[in-house]
Amino acid sequence: MSEDKTKDQEKEHVRRVRYSGTHPRKFQEKYKELQPQKYAEDVAQIIQKGKTPAGMHISICVKEILDFLLIKPSQIGLDATLGYGGHTQKMLECLRGEGHIYAIDVDPVESEKTKKRLEELGYGADILTILHLNFANIDKVLEQGKKFDFVLADLGVSSMQIDNPQRGFSYKYDGPLDLRLNPEKGITAAQRLNKLSESELERILLENSDEPYAKQIARAIIMEIRRGTKIATTKQLSQIVTNALSFLPAGERKDAAKKSCQRVFQALRVDINKEFEALYEFLEKLPQVLAPNGRVAILTFHSGEDRLVKKAFKQFFNEGLYSEIAKDVIRPSAEECCKNPRAHSAKMRWAIKA
Ligand SMILES: C[S@@+](CC[C@H](N)C(=O)[O-])C[C@H]1O[C@@H](n2cnc3c(N)ncnc32)[C@H](O)[C@@H]1O
Repeated sequence: MSEDKTKDQEKEHVRRVRYSGTHPRKFQEKYKELQPQKYAEDVAQIIQKGKTPAGMHISICVKEILDFLLIKPSQIGLDATLGYGGHTQKMLECLRGEGHIYAIDVDPVESEKTKKRLEELGYGADILTILHLNFANIDKVLEQGKKFDFVLADLGVSSMQIDNPQRGFSYKYDGPLDLRLNPEKGITAAQRLNKLSESELERILLENSDEPYAKQIARAIIMEIRRGTKIATTKQLSQIVTNALSFLPAGERKDAAKKSCQRVFQALRVDINKEFEALYEFLEKLPQVLAPNGRVAILTFHSGEDRLVKKAFKQFFNEGLYSEIAKDVIRPSAEECCKNPRAHSAKMRWAIKA
């Protein structure tokens, strides 16, 4: 056997991660889900069961978005939140090879993977430009004078980010209490907690996620820090939140703790990533970057985001910058929510540039 052949065989034979039991449980062990191109059938089965495979994101309201954006070949568009690239891919299909889509994301880790995936599908630099950029800077994407015919923003976090314990986005998995959309920049949620006073934390919980037990939870977290505990992991934080609700009747406690954990993580994520500030700037700049009759659709996932979108659209409509805006929110169908539970809280609003 030649030396080259032996080397090739060694390269091919990479052992998969070992897991205990019959099914992989941890994110890193789900080797099939993490390679959707190689294990397409397994991934399709998981989606069929109403679950999101690890390392993947199922795009929400695709039909509703495309029906509104009315994308035509030769147009120029922006996906302000690339994520897994599901919406980008569908919008690229509408261009039929003519025109261009710019897609941006603050997360350099997932954007790189998405870029590779879309390139493999044949979407190269001639039709798609992927930039590592915060959508607060949408005015920096195109050269001066050029405008977008359509813009999409699908706010929040992707399933890949939520499901990866190393990113610290979910109370469900143990991992470092990070929560940064861009893990190369800014401070982690663990570091932020150490800098906050009780009243600041209470305000963050109230303003960013309408947490009804903000007072009790803020007090419990700050007391724990004063006692010298370093809250460094997601499990530590969710345990403190759960303990803070021990005054509730036993029958209500479990469900309330789950919802409060979700809201506390959301509130911290919004805070450390300055999500409201970025959204505000994006909404302010939108009318300047849209071409006449240009269309924008925005998907939000909590009331704080929806309030900002609704207010900005209404204000610019009253000022004559938009010719039409959505009167009501559009929601995913019951069928979509059933297939993808993460669609439940989604609300879509749209506007058309005058
Ligand atoms: C819900 S996911 C988008 C999923 C995507 N539409 C798809 O179909 O795969 C939201 C994405 O927006 C990104 N994001 C959040 N805030 C951002 C910001 N201010 N600027 C740019 N990207 C942002 C997140 O990193 C995440 O990848």
